Amino acid sequence: MLVSAKEMVNKAKDGKYAVGQFNINNLEWTKAVLLTAQENNSPVILGVSEGAGKYMAGYKTVVGMVNGMMEELKITVPVALHLDHGSYEGSLEVIKAGFSSVMFDGSHYPIEENIEKTKELIRIAGEKGISVEAEVGSIGGEEDGVIGNGEVADPNECKAIADLGVTMLAAGIGNIHGKYPANWTGLNFDVLAEIQAKTTGMPLVLHGGTGIPEDMIQKAISLGVSKINVNTECQLTFADATRKYIEAGKDLSGKGFDPRKLLNPGFEAIKATVKEKMELFGSVNKA
Ligand code: 13P
Repeated sequence: MLVSAKEMVNKAKDGKYAVGQFNINNLEWTKAVLLTAQENNSPVILGVSEGAGKYMAGYKTVVGMVNGMMEELKITVPVALHLDHGSYEGSLEVIKAGFSSVMFDGSHYPIEENIEKTKELIRIAGEKGISVEAEVGSIGGEEDGVIGNGEVADPNECKAIADLGVTMLAAGIGNIHGKYPANWTGLNFDVLAEIQAKTTGMPLVLHGGTGIPEDMIQKAISLGVSKINVNTECQLTFADATRKYIEAGKDLSGKGFDPRKLLNPGFEAIKATVKEKMELFGSVNKA
């Protein structure tokens, strides 16, 4: 059964580790993440962007697929199904469809409007025991065609949003989605420490988990980060494994490519990446 992300991120905060959010795009991706979580006895969050939700034929399809898979693959570790960077309307839709967690990204609204909308969603989600992640300071890079500027969040605005009763808070600290440019100056730990001080006890979320050096990941966890999002790295590893399989012509035995064989190297590659991240984030054996 899907669970809210609340208990898992609170436990991670207390235990000084982070739960990984891995974005899913199809059946193979979902199966790879769920099986790896079970094999490593780790809690896990499945992230679904609005674009990925549409691609997978809608949120109800995603809920049906994940619930069915959890039952048939006998997944017993805690799993949250979470909307990633949701709009206000998208958040309402996934709550109806059966997601167990939502991220409302109101970072592009003026702070007053972000507060109003976040407050309303906390009320609606709260009635169903669904966890809510909010965002302050837009996270740079490109996510589903939306390009943010990589802001550094204002710690007072973080406190205003945290005080509304969100489950967890994503705050921009110089992190960006996708690959980091060669001249990237790194995460802003001074601001992270200030946000942590002003939002005592609030689990913090680090977006843009692809390409952040390991020592920075560990320092971020020591400063209150309890959830880390990874998307691009799984995409790259999936694409690379698939490309190599096609280039090797492995399945051209007169019949063309068997889709199940074609997607298997990508599935295995995602499993390896997810395991590596769970070990780095410290969530192995924390289910
Ligand atoms: P990356 O694509 O950089 O791994 O970031 C993922 C993310 O933050 C999703 O919200």
